[in-house]
Amino acid sequence: MYQFSDQTEGKETVFTIKSQDVKFGVGALRELWSDARSLGMNQIALFLDSNIKASKPISLILESFESSGLEVDIYDAVVCEPNTSSCMAAADFVKQGEYDGIVSIGGGSVMDTAKAANLLSCHGGEILDYVNAPIGLAKKVPGPLLPHIACPTTSGTGAETTGIVVLDIEEVGLKSGISSPHLKPNHAIVDPETTLTLPSGVIASTGFDVLTHAVESYVARPYTSSDRPLDPSLRMGYQGATPYNDIGALAAIRIGGKYLLRAVQNDQDEEARFQLMFAATLAGLAFNSAGVHIPHAMSYSVATLKHEYTAKGYEKLPPMAPHGIAVVLNAPAAFRFTGPTNPERHLEVAQAMGIDTRDAKLEDAGMILADCFIDLMKKTGIPNGLGALGYSEHDVPALAEGGFAQQRPLSMSPCTVSEEDLKNLYNDALQYW
Ligand SMILES: NC(=O)c1ccc[n+]([C@@H]2O[C@H](COP(=O)([O-])OP(=O)(O)OC[C@H]3O[C@@H](n4cnc5c(N)ncnc54)[C@H](O)[C@@H]3O)[C@@H](O)[C@H]2O)c1
Ligand SMILES: [Fe+2]
Repeated sequence: MYQFSDQTEGKETVFTIKSQDVKFGVGALRELWSDARSLGMNQIALFLDSNIKASKPISLILESFESSGLEVDIYDAVVCEPNTSSCMAAADFVKQGEYDGIVSIGGGSVMDTAKAANLLSCHGGEILDYVNAPIGLAKKVPGPLLPHIACPTTSGTGAETTGIVVLDIEEVGLKSGISSPHLKPNHAIVDPETTLTLPSGVIASTGFDVLTHAVESYVARPYTSSDRPLDPSLRMGYQGATPYNDIGALAAIRIGGKYLLRAVQNDQDEEARFQLMFAATLAGLAFNSAGVHIPHAMSYSVATLKHEYTAKGYEKLPPMAPHGIAVVLNAPAAFRFTGPTNPERHLEVAQAMGIDTRDAKLEDAGMILADCFIDLMKKTGIPNGLGALGYSEHDVPALAEGGFAQQRPLSMSPCTVSEEDLKNLYNDALQYW
């Protein structure tokens, strides 16, 4: 798929290997105080998931902060799947203190809230100034933020490795994102032990976030399909698939294919949970560089237009579509659509997920991968299509309009996607079995 030579005039021949400073392993969080010191932190704004505040690993961390002389103020009013006002409130908290560092411990909701609060408290402005166009003004983040250590407690988003904030833009009733290398945490501590308290419904939803990050990165259009920029500083943040991202994406797909069902079915299966945590980090690194596309672009209107569904594991929260579910419900429809563009890659993914593809025909590649996802969705208790979230064919035009506004991810799709295509995809995603 890639040729390392300048064969097509004007096309991209260069890719960047983007990495992240990650400390990974059981017990890694107990060293947080030392990592905070190394980054010069003395007064810390600690963003914490309220659901894990009382857990044993967190009390140990708080004690270690105290004994090492670090001052910590806790902010735990984070909203699950954050929005404009919850991020503004978090920014006010940071503005009121004299902090020299940010630490976030929680899922994507907590880590993204910390990133947004860090941005607004350092550089001012409104959320919409920085949100991707055409929904926001896509203003560039002007410079560095306070040092941030991100510590995920879900095996999902990979947000500890990304320069992305995803939030519900209440002003327009749509989810969208802010992207900048300055938003990327300076350091990540990934301790799989934190996932032992995750309800299995949350493992299912967040696990599919991992799988879709990895698969979308792997089947994204290749970096060689972009025009080579005249000014190298204008090279795009997302590059599309590259030989480097492929390695982590494919490894994450293999791990997810092998362990997701085990982790959901048996909450005592530590090996499965620990492996998924590693897959989440690998997939985060891959998509932060390659970019995600159709299933994620479609998810933003799915998550914002109706709030009627209560997913397993999310019963304590108001009804909503958790991110991983809002994404994976579009995945089978999307892969049927993208399959013909690069069938070999779709088959490689199906094979990595455990399907015997030796006799598979290239023309069936998209269908085979879609069926592989549907099978795993059924077994892990994912709802049967967008219909289960309260959507019907009457909602398809509004869903497609919202999905089509997500031009940044859509531009990473291996094939072009029109608003009409999106209508067909949302219709296809209403019910799978
Ligand atoms: N920035 C990025 O790169 C990126 C990527 C993907 C998704 N996201 C965003 O991340 C958010 C979703 O994050 P998420 O899927 O990690 O879930 P989450 O942070 O919303 O948490 C889901 C639920 O699990 C609970 N929880 C978290 N950790 C727990 C633990 N260890 N034990 C018990 N309960 C725990 C939370 O309290 C919450 O009820 C969405 O807003 C999504 O759009 C961001
Ligand atoms: Fe995601």
